[in-house]
Amino acid sequence: MSTAQQELLEVSQQLLKAIDAGDWNAYAALCDERITCFEPEAEGHLVVGLAFHKFYFDLPGSGQRRLSSISSPHIDVQGDVGVVCYVRLVQKETECGPVTVASNETRIWRRTADGWKHTHLHRSPC
Ligand code: GLY
Repeated sequence: MSTAQQELLEVSQQLLKAIDAGDWNAYAALCDERITCFEPEAEGHLVVGLAFHKFYFDLPGSGQRRLSSISSPHIDVQGDVGVVCYVRLVQKETECGPVTVASNETRIWRRTADGWKHTHLHRSPC
């Protein structure tokens, strides 16, 4: 794995850790403010910007105990752009006990003077 690929894996893990912890500041610091996304919560619409994502960090349940793992990552670097694809496994507690859910994620990153910034994501339904 190249240095850039290793960096992209690390920022992807940091991003998921911020989501799991409900740490908005850590999440926002890794993202471009014009980030775009397709994710199940958007019901098939393209969402632009961070406000949509902040809504979930502000919910009372945000940061509840859960753990995201990156499985089978594929990381491609094209100049200053990185494409990170993987299966995300999320372990969490429910009233019926612990469960694991899986989804496919593609995350695009752009190298800037401040490090890698997350510019686009696409997540499948679980
Ligand atoms: N819903 C925000 C993210 O997965 O990055």
